[in-house]
Amino acid sequence: MSLPPKSENVKADGRTTLELGGVLPKTAEVRDGHLFIGGVDMVKLARVMGTALYVVDEDHFRSQLEEYLTQVRANWQDSDVVYAGKALATVGTDKIVAEEGCCLDVSSGGELALAQAAGFPMERIVEHGNNKTVPELEEALDAGVGLIVVDTHEELERISRLAVAREMSQKVLVRVTPGVVADTHAYIQTGAEDSKFGFSIHNGQAMEALKLALSLPGVELAGLHMHIGSQIFDLSGFAAANVVAADFMAQVKEETGYEAGMLDLGGGLGISYQAADKPSTIAEYAQVAIGGMRDLCQERGLKVPHLMVEPGRSVVANAGVTLYTVGSVKEIPGVRTWVAIDGGMTDNIRTALYGASYEAVVANKADQPRTEVATICGKHCESGDVIIYDASLQPVEPGDTICVFTTGAYNHTMASNYNAQVRPAMVLVRDGKPRTIIRRETYQDLLAREIY
Ligand code: LLP
Repeated sequence: MSLPPKSENVKADGRTTLELGGVLPKTAEVRDGHLFIGGVDMVKLARVMGTALYVVDEDHFRSQLEEYLTQVRANWQDSDVVYAGKALATVGTDKIVAEEGCCLDVSSGGELALAQAAGFPMERIVEHGNNKTVPELEEALDAGVGLIVVDTHEELERISRLAVAREMSQKVLVRVTPGVVADTHAYIQTGAEDSKFGFSIHNGQAMEALKLALSLPGVELAGLHMHIGSQIFDLSGFAAANVVAADFMAQVKEETGYEAGMLDLGGGLGISYQAADKPSTIAEYAQVAIGGMRDLCQERGLKVPHLMVEPGRSVVANAGVTLYTVGSVKEIPGVRTWVAIDGGMTDNIRTALYGASYEAVVANKADQPRTEVATICGKHCESGDVIIYDASLQPVEPGDTICVFTTGAYNHTMASNYNAQVRPAMVLVRDGKPRTIIRRETYQDLLAREIY
């Protein structure tokens, strides 16, 4: 595999920062040539806090959660929004999710520990994971999580055994796969037949799992869960999955008499990574994915269940940016210009992993048009350590502050210590004030686990 084509064919788009549309955090503005978010000067913040630095626009994050609650409840009153913490889970952001009245999806014991440290109400936790370990299940039961979403027969039996031993009953959702192939990257499709997640509706395993859940002591079957994938632009995949789910619920009612009291439709709404992207709005998504379900239930004589959605990316991705300092600008005549920053695949693996694309600006020249084309690379020992191939960028020089947009979701949570790189700090910005919620890692943190 070779690197993507050389930049000689690519033209700079000439846009200024404020012309980048949907990738901008809601409070982004330009003052005296500097990019401001949440009323805070990104250039000054980078200098004070050091780089690489994750910055989250708190108003943007909160307003997306509020918009989800409004739009989902406009289509389905008896509903909850379950924020998917795998997109961005920290103690600081979990507290905000609790304050906004949402539930929280945790997908590991670690994410549960963060939620506990945030004082998140445990009855509003939905625990996920295709292979939860026994200690993770014990922790979930002991913490009193509201719901566990089950993916395997073994897990159902384990929950039953652990719950009986504790003389309790655990509410579960059975995760089903509707056999719908979402229009997105193969690594983040989850609703297809061949998936490590959930039970297939088509081959009968979902029905078997439901019957098992109904028969086991200590297990209370609360309903069904499905999630077809992530970063989905074409809403028809959600609608198609809903038809399969509704037919299945009707079949379950006929065969067992059981009617699902809860239905969790997962997450997956796509967002803008590039200025030209035109994703659906939350309102459009809610109308198609949620509104449509009511008729499907009514047509089949099913009672209207309590409904949940689990958005992650579409809540937080555009709220976040990453700030870097340019170390060097290497022009290879006739080939490309490499702009090296003080982070890379350790704080944003998505370009290397999925071929994702991003937008960036020089934060200290934010009022200027992007007239140059350059490839923004990291500092790690790997040629694929690139954040953006052939980015349109303002004229750039060492010492400049680069701001990469749309890094709020699946960046911090997928960060690594490759090359023993210390992971960035994270700052919430709001009303002109920065608030650090994660401090920068130190060499002492790295050494803390070494035994010598
Ligand atoms: N619910 C379940 C069960 C999920 O597995 C996920 C995402 C979500 C909800 C939230 O989906 P969202 O609204 O964020 O699309 N690391 C990948 C994304 C993996 C998605 C995993 N599951 C990326 O960086 O694109």
